[in-house]
Amino acid sequence: MECKTVEILKKYHQEHILNYLDLLTEEEKKKLEEQILKIDFEQLKDLFQTTQKETCIEEKKIEHIPYKDKAKISDEKKLELEQIGNDIISSGHYAVITMAGGQGTRLGHVAPKGTYLLNTINGEKYLFEIIVDTLKQAQKKYKINIPWYIMTSRENNKQTVEFFEEHEYFNYDKSKVKFFVQGELPLIDTNGKLILNKEKQIKEAADGNGGIYEAIAKSGLLQEMKKDGIEWIFISNVDNILSNFIDPLLLGLTVQENRKIAAKSVAKTNPKEKVGVFCKMNGKPKIIEYIDLPQEMAEEVDENGELIYGEVNIANYLFHRTVLENLADIKLPYHAAFKKSGYLAENGEYIESDKPNVYKFETFIFDAFGRYEDMTILRVKREDEFAPVKNREGTDSPETAVSLYNAKMQKNIINSK
Ligand code: UD1
Repeated sequence: MECKTVEILKKYHQEHILNYLDLLTEEEKKKLEEQILKIDFEQLKDLFQTTQKETCIEEKKIEHIPYKDKAKISDEKKLELEQIGNDIISSGHYAVITMAGGQGTRLGHVAPKGTYLLNTINGEKYLFEIIVDTLKQAQKKYKINIPWYIMTSRENNKQTVEFFEEHEYFNYDKSKVKFFVQGELPLIDTNGKLILNKEKQIKEAADGNGGIYEAIAKSGLLQEMKKDGIEWIFISNVDNILSNFIDPLLLGLTVQENRKIAAKSVAKTNPKEKVGVFCKMNGKPKIIEYIDLPQEMAEEVDENGELIYGEVNIANYLFHRTVLENLADIKLPYHAAFKKSGYLAENGEYIESDKPNVYKFETFIFDAFGRYEDMTILRVKREDEFAPVKNREGTDSPETAVSLYNAKMQKNIINSK
């Protein structure tokens, strides 16, 4: 190994990596060296320090966020707003992004989450395929193929692209589907040390869905969208099988409210539901993840008995393209998660850990919302638009999501008669 690399490892107290060199081929050594030269060790040092400190709650003004309830918008107003949205979509100014950089770990699916197969009333369907179904419906309605961008990670990009090739893009126009790969950060153990993976390289993982701003700009796709006249981009998770991501009403409302960012919410079912909620922090829009929401706040109700922090983030975000351009080099805060991870021992044995042993650092897409004074929030009905597949069983499992999906499909059939 070159002197420079050894010096870096020593400077940042990572010289244990040198103990592995005997296990590596020349080629593996070369790759490891290149990887070390790319890592931002200063950043990693800072990130590790944050895990060692108690998080102090700074003095912040937190308030309920105003929202529009879809159920309370008159039919006449809905038509007017949808007309605005429909015009934008049918004239080709709308695109969709699916964030699919995460793995289906919680589901017990050792592959890209979008390749998870569900047994629905419409037959067996992959999560990605359900998204294509919605794109195809839009194709019929608007007579155009809406561009679809899929964010993957280095970990799952190859498998995701191969999956689409194998399934012939579920008969969607292949030229409208593009992939872009998000960034990664090394994992570190409880002593701040790097770990190695099965391939004898430093173990890294996707840097959270907040990596989307940098990734989309770096990929050149943002510039391509501009050239193609895309003005509005809907971004959502891969796992909500009722996601209504081509929504002229939300689009029309956002345009009419003269906003550049919007999102949809549903009412929280109970204070303990494991979701993020919208609020205003120091006057700016913000989402607080359930882990960070103190119990007394989670339980706080207003004079009508409604939860004050009761607007659930269903990860349905609408952005004007210029917002993505402005946020291209935003530095978002990192959130540390303590997770289980396999690692290579110094004797060459790969050890699976049965308890959390590493820190993973992630940024969140919505931490950028505070850059904007305000955003449009549209509350929709859970049974119409939110059926996430997160856990193997229990709440938000394939079973609960499919049951909501089936009910919606049956309702659609009845409504179309
Ligand atoms: C997310 C939201 C939460 C919301 C819930 C609704 C975040 C951080 N939290 O929770 O506020 O209530 O959805 O279902 O978004 N992803 C990547 N790259 C990554 C990490 C994740 O593309 O590095 C993608 C995943 O593939 C997934 C989405 O981001 O599509 C959200 O994943 P995850 O971080 O697991 O958040 P949730 O717990 O689902």
